[in-house]
Order: sequence, then C-alpha cells, then structure tokens
Amino acid sequence: MKKRYTITSALPYANGPIHIGHLAGAYIPADIYSRYLRLSGHDVCFVCGSDEHGAAIPIRAKKEGTTAQNIIDKYHFIIKESFINFGISFDNYSRTSSKIHHETASGFFKDLNDKNIFIEKESDQLYDASEKQFLADRFVEGECPKCNFDGAYGDQCENCGSTLNPNELINPRSKLSGNKPTLKKTKHWFLPLNNFEPFLKEWFLIEKKDEWKSNVFGQVKSWIQEGLKPRAITRDLDWGIPVPIKEAIGKVLYVWFDAPIGYISATKEWAKREKIDWKPYWQDPKTELVHFIGKDNIVFHCIIFPSILKASNKYILPTNVPANEFLNLEGKKISTSKNWAIWLHEYMEDFPEMQDTLRYVLTANAPENKDNDFTWKDFQAKNNNELVAILGNFINRVVVLTQKYYASKVPSIGALNDKEQDLISEIYSFPKKIGDSIDKFKFREAVNIIIDLARLGNKYLADEEPWKLIKTEDSEKVKTIMNISLQICGVLGLVCEPFLPNTSEKLKTIFNIKSIEWSSISKDSPIVSYKIEKSSLLFRKIEDQEIELQLAKLNESKQLKE
Ligand code: MF3
Ligand code: ZN
Repeated sequence: MKKRYTITSALPYANGPIHIGHLAGAYIPADIYSRYLRLSGHDVCFVCGSDEHGAAIPIRAKKEGTTAQNIIDKYHFIIKESFINFGISFDNYSRTSSKIHHETASGFFKDLNDKNIFIEKESDQLYDASEKQFLADRFVEGECPKCNFDGAYGDQCENCGSTLNPNELINPRSKLSGNKPTLKKTKHWFLPLNNFEPFLKEWFLIEKKDEWKSNVFGQVKSWIQEGLKPRAITRDLDWGIPVPIKEAIGKVLYVWFDAPIGYISATKEWAKREKIDWKPYWQDPKTELVHFIGKDNIVFHCIIFPSILKASNKYILPTNVPANEFLNLEGKKISTSKNWAIWLHEYMEDFPEMQDTLRYVLTANAPENKDNDFTWKDFQAKNNNELVAILGNFINRVVVLTQKYYASKVPSIGALNDKEQDLISEIYSFPKKIGDSIDKFKFREAVNIIIDLARLGNKYLADEEPWKLIKTEDSEKVKTIMNISLQICGVLGLVCEPFLPNTSEKLKTIFNIKSIEWSSISKDSPIVSYKIEKSSLLFRKIEDQEIELQLAKLNESKQLKE
C-alpha cells in the first residue's frame, strides 16, 4: 500500500560545520530511509534546516568576535552546501530564521496560550551580574545532579541525556564570564509536562512498546516513570523568536520550543514551492512521521515535542524516532570545541568523488544500538576490503568477461538446472530482505546484505569458472553464467541506491538498468537490457599514506586548540 511519509533529520545548530558524528547519527540513516521509500513508490517529504536560535549561536559569535546574524549566515550556507555536495536528498533544507518559521512558531505559542495550556510562573533564575544576563541553557555549565558529569548545560546533560533546570546544576558557572551566577527573579511560561503524563503513558508506553528501538524506548520510559515537571519554554534573551504576547516583551521562545516546529515550517516552504498542500504531511492521521536524531535529542522528540503536537489538537504524532547512539573518533568523543572531528566539507576536499565510501563506512559502522568508534584504519579497510575487493571486483569481472566473450552484448540465458534455479530465486530474494531490514531501521544489517549479494556473485564465478568453460565444448553454458551474473549486477545497481547513490547511478549507466519500483524487482521483469556500456571506475583503493596524512591532520588540529 502506498503511504505518505514525513521524514525529518535533526536541525543542526548553525554554529559550526557538519562532522561525521552528525552524518552517522541523523543524516545518512534518514537519507537511506527516504530514498528507499521513494523507490518503493511512497509519497515522501524529507525535510531539515539550520537551527539558528538558542544560546549556541551567540556563544559562537562571542568566540569568533562577531554577531549572531553573521554566524548563522556563515554556517547555514557551509552546512547547506556540504549536504548538497554529499548528496543528502532533502526535499527542503530550510532555516529557522526564515519568516515562515517565525510565523509558524509564534502561531503555535499563541494557539497553545489561547487554549490555556501553559502556566506562568515567577521564579529565581541564574543571573550573571557582570554581563547583565540571565543564564539558561548553554550559557551556564556545571555538574550534572544525575550523573555528576562536569559539563552539563542548564537545560540538559549531554552525558546522561537528562533534562535539567539551570538551578539543579552543582557548582554552576557562567559561560560568558566564568563567574559564579547569582539569582534574580523573572517570569516565564511553562509547559506543564506533568499534565501530559496520562497522554504519554497511553501513546508512548503502551502503543510504542514493541515497535521502537530498545535504546530509545527504555530511556523515555524511565523518564516518564520518574515523573515529569513543568518546563520553561520562554527565555530572557535577545536572540530568538520574540514571545508573541504583550506580557512577555523582551523575552524569546526557548530554542527547543521553536526548533522542532522548524520541521513544519520547512514542510510549508517546500509545499509552497511545489504548489501543493502541506497539511496532509502533518495533519492526516494516515501520514507516517519519522524523526531521525542522535541520542541527546531523545527527550525533545519523544516527550516535549509530542506533548506540544498533542496540545495543538490538530497534528499527528511521530510513528517512530529511531535515535542513534554516539559515534566516537579514534577512541575519543567527537568535539567541535576541541576540534576533534572529521568535517564533512574537508572530507570532500580530501576525498573528492568518494561520498559513497564515507556513506558506506558510516552505515556499516553506525552507532545503532551502542556508541561506536570511527577510525581511519577501519575506513581504509572497509573501502579496500569490501567496496573495492568484493563489490567493485565483482562488477569489474562481469564487465570485463562480457566484453571479452560477447562484445558487451548481454548473452541469453539457457535452460536452467535446479542449482541455477535456486540461485535465481536467491538473487531475487535480496531486495525483500534488504527492504525488511530498512523497515526496521537496521541499516547496518541492510548494507551488509548488499555486500553478501556481491559475495554471492564472486563465489558463483569462482565456482563456475567461465574462463575455463569458454575453452571447452561447454562454452554455451558460459552464456547462462554471464547472464545470471549480469542479473546480479542489475539487482545490485538497484538495491544499492539508498546507500550508495553515486555507485547506483554508475551501475545503471553501465548495465542500462531500467529504474523500477523496489517491490517489482523480480526474475520476471528483466532489469539488464541488451548490452552494457563502457565501465567507469566504481571504487579506488585508499593507500596507507593517505590515512597517515589524515591521522596527522587530526592530531595537529587538536594540538592547535590545546
Ligand atoms: N540543533 C539541535 C542539536 O543539534 C537539534 C535540533 S532538532 C529539532 O542538537 F528538532 F529541534 F529541530
Ligand atoms: Zn548527566
């Protein structure tokens, strides 16, 4: 059955470029999923955009000695361009400083305020007297009361994922001056999450129990069971979306109130361009909504945003939130401030035309259920031993043999024995197997199955030895062997599209593969046509020297920061 899907990837903060941790956590999996759904004939809207509010932006501005506006303009374009060059197939990449987003987010606040969803409360908040500024979110750091990690922010501990109030931090310090904050009274609007507990228990604990990834379900369950508290959704700041009511002049919306609404604004912007209605993508209960995020975003996407959507009484709730764990780099936590990262735009300068290699390694190594490690050595090994030696090698052998024996024409298939019939059935069972894994968000498993198909092809050639048969009276048999091998290439060309889109493009050209829907890939609809074209290089070997260079670069840039 054809369905409508709204797919989102976490909006990256426009305070720095994209690194491999971002890619592995939220962008590559969402892109695989979206491409697969499109190939399956579904109606897909895949959106993202830059998150341009919140403390992350003015803090970066201060560090670079410039304005918040300059920071978002600089990084929005760097991020957007790197995503385009890398081939993430967003239907729209928007930004939260846009007019349409300011209107949408203000509209949400006004609507919920009119419905009396919020509570207003005066309380003591951390204040930096020398900077004359309230300290919420990333403006304040301290020790997490839950896990004792000494770098927790005022709204969240990224180490254990807990949401926090700034007043809960042990030994808080201002990120602006380093001073110990004082307390000052101020009024804020709160989302009383405690009122949403019955809804969350029903919608989440009961309905999602067996469907969601266990790492996500377990965490959300324990938060709900611990009991939820009201969360302030306004801030005393001069950067953000102004709270759209008179009584709140000078205050802005909390970034985590406005940012997820950015998914809706991005959809509106896209629909306007496409001249279609945006509403079914967010309001039709038959639409599937899937959020791709990293684990530090779980609470916002599984508790806070669903409560906001629920309170609006019009919007659908997420079908699934397949959050990933963290990717480390060479055994250490990736860190923008310590410059311990592989930046996407730099990768593409150093390895041009090798997008698919990075996509492959980050998928095969994705931190799906636990934190995982990226190492340059493993990157080289996966490229050389899997993409080059298994997939590339198989394709190359088939192309070369078809050229040599049949002047690049696809030979016809002869009568099949039982073994060959089983093989054909096996080959055509791969698309379904891969699709099933993707449906379950098991992208590592899916990409391994693709390599298994190429392995199967290599084994078939090694077992049949067409290069020997061609010299005997059995040379007719070689036609069948090569035809079957070409069919494997055809299936590979189609099923690798979500994972390795550039490779898929090349394979489609080499083998004249007709694009057909995923579920129609079967032995009855031949994918490989009458002849094959000249082959282009699919993958190249990565030399030790290149890896040493990257390791040196990583250690050098880190030392510069120390
Ligand atoms: N900017 C946030 C981060 O990088 C993610 C925002 S996701 C959204 O952690 F839902 F708010 F959009
Ligand atoms: Zn913690």
